[in-house]
Amino acid sequence: MRRFSRITGTGSYLPPRRLSNADLAAELATKGVETSDDWIVERTGIRARHFAAPDVCASDLGFEAAKAALQAAGRAPQDIDLIIVATSTPDMVFPSTACILQHKLAQLNDAAKGIAGCPAFDVQAVCSGFVYALTVADAMIQTGAANRALVIGSEVFSRILDFTDRTTCVLFGDGAGAVVLEASDTPGILASDLHADGKHVGILCVPGNVSGGRVIGSPLLTMDGQAVFKLAVGVLEDAARATLAKAGLKDTDIDWLIPHQANIRIMQSTAKKLKVPLEKLIVTVDQHGNTSAASIPLALDVSVKSGKIKPGDTLMLEGVGGGFTWGAVLLKL
Ligand code: UT7
Repeated sequence: MRRFSRITGTGSYLPPRRLSNADLAAELATKGVETSDDWIVERTGIRARHFAAPDVCASDLGFEAAKAALQAAGRAPQDIDLIIVATSTPDMVFPSTACILQHKLAQLNDAAKGIAGCPAFDVQAVCSGFVYALTVADAMIQTGAANRALVIGSEVFSRILDFTDRTTCVLFGDGAGAVVLEASDTPGILASDLHADGKHVGILCVPGNVSGGRVIGSPLLTMDGQAVFKLAVGVLEDAARATLAKAGLKDTDIDWLIPHQANIRIMQSTAKKLKVPLEKLIVTVDQHGNTSAASIPLALDVSVKSGKIKPGDTLMLEGVGGGFTWGAVLLKL
């Protein structure tokens, strides 16, 4: 019998410090950087974002999201045999945030120590990270390499923002989302489609690196927003159509479209191209900003917890971001 994978629980976590556009604009004004709620809302749809405290890392946010997903799935840490964390803002250069997070889960209680020993690794595909991680976990479950995975997107993008660059620092936020993905006789994940094209490295990157004990080059995010915008609109439609074709489904079969939450204009344009009515477009970018690899699992969990998305619904998840990377996962909840 063919093995499939299925999401059995979702969770998410936002750090408590919430900044409205007005709050952020007031902070930026003290640095001589001019922006406004009107500009941010009109160009991006963002109204607020959350920033983590200085001592809080991606593994801390991911830990909270993972605990919530485990609880929703009715599982305990020791039931998990694979951990994949999608992040571009890891706690350390190495080891992976997934290893650090595994140890935090193992310390919850005596029984939880059983999670130690399972494979744990990070996936680095920037804002496409969660669809990449979910696809890898699905493949490992299908082959029998894993039975029950924690797949987490967790980011502290506030750490890599240049708060003197108004074209980027108003866009991003911190947060984490997680799912428990389990082996199942019925799908679950129906199809996925992943891509990358490294010729676009320069349009969205953090170009610095660590060498000889020093940071060489800028450790802050830089983006050609218009170039990213144009590429994103095209590839998101292609990835969704390819995924539907692989699953033998039509655009009208999509109950909910959950694109990467970067800009409401990109999301609405993708929905229109796919002929998905705007009522079926999941939007959390207004409250979270762009949380990179965390944006899709965050949007998923918020919509599941609010009762909007229900078991049995067909979801199209779509990621796009630095690399350039893009991809989609079609699944039945
Ligand atoms: O997560 C990975 C995916 N990332 C994305 O999807 C981001 C894609 N790109 C975008 O979302 C948009 O390109 C942005 C939101 C980044 C920018 O929107 P835009 O409509 O492309 O604006 P723009 O860059 O053309 O800038 C328009 C004007 C400029 O002023 P001038 O030259 O027309 O006088 C900017 O200097 O808006 C100005 N501007 C701002 N004004 C107030 C840029 N940033 C700001 C700001 N506040 N924060």
